[in-house]
This record gives sequence, structure tokens and C-alpha cells, in this order.
Amino acid sequence: MKEMFWCIGFLLISAEIISSRLASTAEVCTKIKANTCDECIQSGPHCSWCKKVNFTKAGEPDSVRCDTTEKLLEIGCNLTDIVDPISKVLLKDNQVLDDTVQLTPRRISLQLRPGETGEFEVKFRRAEGYPVDLYYLMDLSYSMFDDLENVKTLGNQLLDALNKVTKSAQIGFGCFVDKTVLPFVSTHPEQFRHPCTNKTVPCQSPFSFKHILNLTGDENRFKEQVGSQTISGNLDSPEGGLDAMMQVAVCGDKIGWRNVTRLLVYATDDGFHIAGDGKLAAILTPNDGKCHLEDNIYKTSNEYDYPSVGQLAQKLSENNIQVVFAVTANMVHTYQALSSLIPKSVVGRLSNDSSNVVQLITDAYQNLSSEVILDHGITPDFLDILYDSNCSNGVNTQNTLRGSCSNVKIKEEITFKVKVTAKKCLPNQSFSIRPLGFTESVRVNVITACDCTCEDAPDLHACSSKGRIVCGICR
Ligand SMILES: *[C@@H]1O[C@H](CO)[C@@H](O)[C@H](O)[C@H]1NC(C)=O
Ligand SMILES: *[C@@H]1O[C@H](CO)[C@@H](O)[C@H](O)[C@H]1NC(C)=O
Ligand SMILES: *[C@@H]1O[C@H](CO)[C@@H](O)[C@H](O)[C@H]1NC(C)=O
Ligand SMILES: *[C@@H]1O[C@H](CO)[C@@H](O)[C@H](O)[C@H]1NC(C)=O
Ligand SMILES: *[C@@H]1O[C@H](CO)[C@@H](O)[C@H](O)[C@H]1NC(C)=O
Ligand SMILES: *[C@@H]1O[C@H](CO)[C@@H](O)[C@H](O)[C@H]1NC(C)=O
Ligand SMILES: *[C@@H]1O[C@H](CO)[C@@H](O)[C@H](O)[C@H]1NC(C)=O
Ligand SMILES: *[C@@H]1O[C@H](CO)[C@@H](O)[C@H](O)[C@H]1NC(C)=O
Ligand SMILES: *[C@@H]1O[C@H](CO)[C@@H](O)[C@H](O)[C@H]1NC(C)=O
Repeated sequence: MKEMFWCIGFLLISAEIISSRLASTAEVCTKIKANTCDECIQSGPHCSWCKKVNFTKAGEPDSVRCDTTEKLLEIGCNLTDIVDPISKVLLKDNQVLDDTVQLTPRRISLQLRPGETGEFEVKFRRAEGYPVDLYYLMDLSYSMFDDLENVKTLGNQLLDALNKVTKSAQIGFGCFVDKTVLPFVSTHPEQFRHPCTNKTVPCQSPFSFKHILNLTGDENRFKEQVGSQTISGNLDSPEGGLDAMMQVAVCGDKIGWRNVTRLLVYATDDGFHIAGDGKLAAILTPNDGKCHLEDNIYKTSNEYDYPSVGQLAQKLSENNIQVVFAVTANMVHTYQALSSLIPKSVVGRLSNDSSNVVQLITDAYQNLSSEVILDHGITPDFLDILYDSNCSNGVNTQNTLRGSCSNVKIKEEITFKVKVTAKKCLPNQSFSIRPLGFTESVRVNVITACDCTCEDAPDLHACSSKGRIVCGICR
């Protein structure tokens, strides 16, 4: 049995090293190829190497030097001659949680033997009054006619509602219809100019996505910019909303998102096109998940297919955006299905004329911020990351692919245990772990312990003409 390794802060003053060597029931060393020290320690987390000079008897292969520490001691290797790099977890920037610090620690360094798991704790505590940016993304297809009239007057109500929960709120606005090609919209010149069924209403040509108002705290700008919008129209009933969400997610600079709680309110009374639907218009190039806004318009929407739900979910999460689907009763089921694939999203029922949207957003904000999901972005396949969640409501889960706690109230502290395993030797890796929708993150660096440092005493005779002594053998 290997011993727990405890060593307090000798590398960095503010650092804390804790061991990750887990007590496991049966420690075995299965050496597949173990003719050198490096090969030995890479062949399994419990393989150690005996670097004692002249350890092997005549005719014995060098692989005899590779075994569990226990076995090597048994066959006569001195403990000081045993090479067994251990896994280490180094916590840096440990902080006290308060109203400005919601997450700790901020940096972790892991040194891992392949196959061995490094564990560390992440603590989270919701602060009060965290700033909010809210982007209102609205379907402007013709049936949203009465909704648009109501939304035009919403600016101050929205800001008032947000200012009740935070010290600093901003709102922005954008709208979408669909890709401007058949069969999504009519390309007949007359129809294209005025796609609305009622020919007497002011109406604009269809477009994919238009960014109308940068995030701002000024309600008058909302009134001006949104007030000047007119409705539009298209042909088929699903809309190109996912195209618009993708641009809102990835065009951070152009939308003006701050590093605060980011809410995207998606208001519609209809379904959505997804990846593959572009084929109907011979658009075969997959969505590239990049920002294509030019003059605040997604002009190249006819060149790329719609994004897939997975692709969109990933970009939303990468950009820390939480979605509120504000949809009419007939669409609630459709969007609940979509929402279940997008972490940190909720569905609220929008009245036919959008008059209840402020209450809907307020409720959704409460729901979203009380759910804490701890997740990492894309990491290499050969890093396994699992979470144990210890929630304030007493719910505990083990070994899940992301950490998760519901009904977390302001100022309640929750703890996650993060377990990282490298399946093989890797170049240095790093990734971030973040509670989705919050801005703070834990930066994790992973180094795999795959090389032996033996510090052999020079021995001129040991190898005679067969080279230099390295980890006990002639090299
Ligand atoms: C093991 O190493 C220590 C320190 O180098 C030494 O004092 C001791 O004699 C060694 N024991 C054996 C059995 O070689
Ligand atoms: C078209 O819109 C105008 C102006 O809003 C309205 O007075 C009229 O009733 C509408 N016509 C139809 C057929 O809906
Ligand atoms: C938003 O701000 C950016 C730069 O700050 C500007 O280029 C862009 O035109 C603005 N968009 C709108 C819709 O005002
Ligand atoms: C937000 O944070 C990210 C990552 O820390 C950084 O790259 C980006 O520039 C920040 N954006 C703003 C608007 O501060
Ligand atoms: C809202 O729309 C649904 C379906 O489109 C309709 O059945 C319902 O009567 C409408 N409700 C109101 C209050 O207009
Ligand atoms: C918020 O959560 C409550 C309780 O779980 C639920 O009844 C309500 O529908 C949710 N509202 C939204 C907009 O998610
Ligand atoms: C969960 O957290 C509570 C409070 O910090 C602690 O008392 C408890 O031991 C933890 N449970 C587990 C399974 O870690
Ligand atoms: C990997 O990390 C180790 C230890 O921090 C460092 O010595 C080495 O230079 C790093 N290598 C690269 C390629 O970054
Ligand atoms: C190892 O063996 C060689 C040859 O038998 C001998 O010259 C050398 O002194 C030995 N080294 C040690 C450290 O026992």
C-alpha cells in the first residue's frame, strides 16, 4: 500500500499541495513493455522502477526492475532506489468567498500518472446583485405583428425589472426572420419587398438576422431603435432563429456583451429550422459557428446551413449565455425539447401578444440563477473528468459528467469534487471549469508524470564500455 503524500506549500508560498494517490484495493503493475524506467512508469499508475546499480542478476532482463513498490522491496530493492513519480494536486489562488468572489480556487495544477485520478474541490457561493446583460431576440415574421407593438414599449419595464435584482443592467435587441431564399421566403420581387399578408401595414423585406441595439442601460435608445422596427414575413412556418442565436452568441464584441450574467431572450410563436434544412435551398456548407455580422446584419446567411442544436449549445455555453425561450402556448413542447439539449436554458409561455414577457423573464432569471452547473469546455478525449456534487439542499451526486445543483439560494455555499484522470501520457494540457452562466472559472493545468528523474550517482565502472548509467541501467 502506498502512503498518502502530504506536503504543504513548498513550491509556492500561497500554494497548497494535496495528494491524489488514492488508496486502491489491489495495486498491480502490468508491464507490457518495461525495459527502461520511462517505459515502466508509463505502463501503469502502480508501476515503480528500481534504479539500484547491478540489481539484476546475470541473464535477467531489465524488466525485473519494474513492479509495484511493495514487490520491489520484497525482492531487495532499497526504498531510496525506487522511482515512483506521484500524482500531485496543487491549488493556487485559493480565495475567500464573498460578494465579489463566487468561486474558489481559481487555478489548479495537476501532475498525474496516467491512469491515476487527481481530485480537488471547487466551492461556489452565489453573490447578490450580480450584473445582468439581456438581449431580446425577436421573431419578426408576420404573426408577431401585435407582439412587436407591445415590445416597443418594454424597454423601461425590462430595465426596471432587472434593476430590482441587480445594480447594473443592460438591454439589447435584435430580430430575425429566415434565410432569404426559396423555400424559406418568397423571392418574387413584389413579395420580397412587402412580404406581409396585410398589404396596408408597414412591412420590411425579409432578412436572416439584424442586430438593432447594442447592449445599453439607456431605455430611450431601446425606444428609438426598437420603435422604428416594422414587421416582416416569410413563407414556411419554421423560422431561422438558430442562425440568429448563433450570431448573438459568437459576435460578442459587436453585440456588446459584458462579462456578467448574459441572458438571451428568444421570443417566437413558431418552430425553427435546424442543420440539414439548408439542403431545401441547396445550401450545403455546414454552419461554421463564426461571427458573420457585417453592418449589423448576417449577410452571408444564404451561404451556410443552419447550425445544429449541439453546435449552438456549445457556442452558447462557451460564451456563457443563458437562454430564455419565450414562446406561445402552441410552441411550448417544441421548445422544451430544444431546451433539454441546451444547458442553462428555460422555456416560458408567452401570451399571444407578448404582454407578459417582463414577468416571464423575471421568473426565468430566478430559475436560471438558482441552477448551478459546473462544466468544462472541450478537452482531449484522453482526459476523463468527473464530478461529485454536494448541494446545499442536501442532494449529492457522484461521478457525473458535469456538476449540478438546483435551487441554490443567494449566499449558500455548495461544493463540487472534480476528478481528473489522464488515460495516457500527454503534452501539457489546460482547460477551464466554470459554473455555466457565471463569469468566474477555475483554470486547470495538467502535466502527466511520464518521465523518470533518477539522479544516478556517477559510476564509471558499472557500464564499462556500454555507455552511461541511467536509472540503474546502461544506456
Ligand atoms: C538503503 O539506502 C540507505 C541510504 O542510501 C543506506 O543507508 C542503506 O544502507 C541502504 N540499505 C540497503 C539494504 O542497501
Ligand atoms: C390590415 O392592417 C390595417 C392597419 O393595421 C388594419 O386596419 C386592417 O384591418 C388589416 N386588414 C386585415 C385584413 O387584417
Ligand atoms: C454596436 O457597437 C459597435 C462598436 O462598438 C458598432 O460597430 C455597431 O455598429 C453597433 N451596433 C449597433 C446596432 O448600434
Ligand atoms: C471577458 O472575459 C474573457 C475571458 O476572460 C476575455 O477574453 C474577454 O475579453 C472579456 N470580455 C470583456 C468584454 O471584458
Ligand atoms: C392565442 O393563440 C392561440 C393559437 O394560436 C389561440 O388558440 C388562442 O385563442 C389565442 N389566445 C388569445 C387570447 O388570443
Ligand atoms: C420557474 O420554476 C418554477 C418552479 O420550478 C416553474 O413553475 C416555472 O414554470 C419556471 N419558470 C420558468 C420561466 O422557467
Ligand atoms: C457536503 O457538505 C457539507 C457541508 O459543507 C458537509 O458537512 C458534508 O460532509 C458534505 N458531504 C459530502 C458527501 O462531502
Ligand atoms: C509543461 O509543464 C512543465 C512543468 O510546469 C514545464 O516545465 C514545461 O516547460 C511545460 N512544457 C510545455 C511544452 O509547456
Ligand atoms: C556493479 O558491478 C560492476 C561490475 O561487476 C562493478 O564494477 C561496480 O562497482 C558495481 N557497482 C555497484 C554500485 O555495485
